[in-house]
Amino acid sequence: SHPIIFDTDPGVDDAQAIAIALRHPEIELLGLTTTYGNVDIETATHNGLLLCELAGRGDVPVAQGAAGPMVKPRHPAPAHIHGANGLGNIELPEVKGKKDPRSAAQFIVDTVNERPGEVTLVAVGPVGNLAAALQLDPALTEKVKRVVIMGGSVREGGNVTPVAEANMFNDPHAAQRVLTAGWPLTLVGLDVTHRCVLTPAHMQRIEAGQGELGKVLAGSYAFYRDFYREFLGIDGCCPHDSCALAWLLRPELFTTAPGHLAVITEGLAEGQTLFAPEGRDFIQERWSQTPLAEVCLEVDGEAVVEWITATLG
Ligand code: BDR
Ligand code: CA
Repeated sequence: SHPIIFDTDPGVDDAQAIAIALRHPEIELLGLTTTYGNVDIETATHNGLLLCELAGRGDVPVAQGAAGPMVKPRHPAPAHIHGANGLGNIELPEVKGKKDPRSAAQFIVDTVNERPGEVTLVAVGPVGNLAAALQLDPALTEKVKRVVIMGGSVREGGNVTPVAEANMFNDPHAAQRVLTAGWPLTLVGLDVTHRCVLTPAHMQRIEAGQGELGKVLAGSYAFYRDFYREFLGIDGCCPHDSCALAWLLRPELFTTAPGHLAVITEGLAEGQTLFAPEGRDFIQERWSQTPLAEVCLEVDGEAVVEWITATLG
C-alpha cells in the first residue's frame, strides 16, 4: 500500500481526489494538508475536515497551511469555477472535528521523519506547503519516497494564462523551489489531465456509490460542469487532481519522460512550467543543471476516468 500525505485546496476536483485517497484500499492516507488556492485557507481546511467526516474518516488529521503565495500578492480565488465555498455553493453540513494543531509544513516534516523512505507527498494545489516543509527540513528531499504534483503544463498551454496552469501560477516561487529541489518527482499536468473527462454518467455511478459524500461530490460536480460547458464547450469535467493518484496507482496508463523542470516566477509568463527533455544538448548549460524529474506527457484518458469511477462507484 502507498502511505501518502495529500496536500490540497478543496475545490471540486480536489474533493473527488480526496474521496479516492480515503476509499482506495491501496492508499494509506496519513493526513490532509491544506492550502489556499481554489478557496481561502479557512475554507480549504473546513472542506478537508468535512469531506473526511462525510466518508466516516474523521480520524484523518487535517493540518492547515499556506494562506497565500510566498512572494507575490495573493490572487483572489475565482468563485465561478469552484463556487465561493469551494464545493459548488451547495449547502454543507456542519463540521464536527478540529484541525491538527500543527502547521501543514510541520505535519509533513514530522510524518515523513516518522517513516523515512516510505511516504509519498501528493500535492494538488499551489505548493507553498511543500516549499515551507523543505525550509524546515532540507533533508526531506532524501526522506520522502516521491513527490507527485498535479500542476503545470509542458506542451498543452495554460488554463489561467496562455502559458500558466493554476497551481503553478498561484505560487510560482514555491513551485520553482519544489520542482528543482532534487527529490524524486513526478509532474502530472494539463498535458494529461485535459485528456480525461469525467462525464455526468460517470458521476451518477460515483454518487450512487458514496452515500453522504456522494451527494457533495455530485452537487459540486454539477456546478463545475457549468463552468466547463461555458468556457471549454465540453459536457463533463477534467478530474485534474484525481489524475495524480491515478498516476501513483496505475502508472502504466501514462507515458512519461525524464527531464529538467523550471517555473517562470516573474513577468508576463509567470507560472509557466518549462521542460527540457533529458539528453538534449541545449546551448545554455544551466538547463541541465537542475535535477531530473519525470513528466507525464500522454495518458489513456478513458482508462483513467474508468479507474476513478470504479474506485468510487
Ligand atoms: C488545478 O487548479 C485547480 O483549480 C484544480 O483543483 C486543480 O488542482 C488545475 O489547473
Ligand atoms: Ca486542486
